Amino acid sequence: MKLAVVGGGSTYTPELVDGFARLRDTLPVEELVLVDPAAERLELVGGLARRIFAKQGHPGRIVTTDDVAAGVEGADAVLLQLRVGGQAARNQDETWPLECGCVGQETTGAGGLAKAMRTVPVVLDIAEQVRRSAPDAWIIDFTNPVGIVTRALLQAGHRAVGLCNVAIGFQRKFAQLLDVLPEQVHLDHVGLNHLTWERGVRLGGPNGEDLLPKLLAEHGDSIADDLHMPRQIVDRLGVVPSYYLRYFYAHDEVVRELGTKPSRAAQVAAMEKELLEMYGDPALDEKPALLAKRGGAFYSEAAVALASSLLRNTGDVQVVNTYNNGTLPFLADDAVIEVPATVDATGATPLPVPPLEPLFAGLVANVTAYEDLALEAALRGGRDRVFAALLAHPLIGQYEYAEGLTDRLIAHNREHFAWA
Ligand code: G6P
Ligand code: MN
Repeated sequence: MKLAVVGGGSTYTPELVDGFARLRDTLPVEELVLVDPAAERLELVGGLARRIFAKQGHPGRIVTTDDVAAGVEGADAVLLQLRVGGQAARNQDETWPLECGCVGQETTGAGGLAKAMRTVPVVLDIAEQVRRSAPDAWIIDFTNPVGIVTRALLQAGHRAVGLCNVAIGFQRKFAQLLDVLPEQVHLDHVGLNHLTWERGVRLGGPNGEDLLPKLLAEHGDSIADDLHMPRQIVDRLGVVPSYYLRYFYAHDEVVRELGTKPSRAAQVAAMEKELLEMYGDPALDEKPALLAKRGGAFYSEAAVALASSLLRNTGDVQVVNTYNNGTLPFLADDAVIEVPATVDATGATPLPVPPLEPLFAGLVANVTAYEDLALEAALRGGRDRVFAALLAHPLIGQYEYAEGLTDRLIAHNREHFAWA
């Protein structure tokens, strides 16, 4: 089995490689190609990746290259985990929206639109190279914003599934609280990428007993603490929102907070510098503890599980991003949603979802409309399309904000936009 990781020079890669090494019975990788344009990083990351495989007795070969077409050739699956413009671009996404009193975040709000617009053309170009060099490969997209990027890939006819670690994070947390194995916990997870709620936590599978009320009664404080939301709010919702919902439910509070501390991008850039120094140490042969301070916990496990289901035709259930196809009847079939789906060699098929309460459906419909317009802006460019997407976003909505944000988004990203 051959896997390629585009963005393989990411400081996150050792997490992924550690997962491939530990879970080699689930996913027997014979060749792992790390593709990245940043030669220096790639060498450091590639070196550590080889030492991790060697230490764990993994027989797989690790190859590094800056050539996408050559790297993905004949691959069974291609993972996309890239960040156009790096942490510097992310730092801007997190900063200029604050000047307009709006949240600055890499996937939510105006910053998320900027990221989508920089990223979609680059990902589509890579996907075309995959189509030519590895026509049967599955594309597993981790590249944010995952909902919009996955939709761009599917619309262009690629064999793609979008993946995020939020669901697997909840699964692991709830399993620990319930003292059961993570595989035993099925989540009634619903929404869009980075806009989801856990409406049920079932033991054994989709039809198992719902232990969410028990979890909230016994561990509500710990669950709410992790989300930085008041316990009463979680109790009143009666479901567990992802921490990205805080940008909606506590927007103004978050804006005030963000104004008083360094951006997440600045924190991550400092961590990355430290990590790369560590990776250069030939004595290091495992993923360093510092990596756990990044947001990507369990992403290697999610990736291994999804690749295994797609390539080994397992037909098990995983939370993924894929076409709605009637699952949420108030959205178009070609909207991309994040829900539990049966995954086999034909792709992902969402399980049926009980009707979504208006409290959640309103936001899902609104953000889906924004994502429609965001994808239009990313594919076709133009100031008017940027403005329309921002005006449609539930966290923006007023033309005064949308104008100010449009000007800033374009000014800060001109070098990435062919049309500007
Ligand atoms: C979570 C999200 C990812 C996001 C990451 C950011 O894992 O699901 O989509 O990329 O957090 O983590 P970072 O350490 O870069 O802030
Ligand atoms: Mn995510």
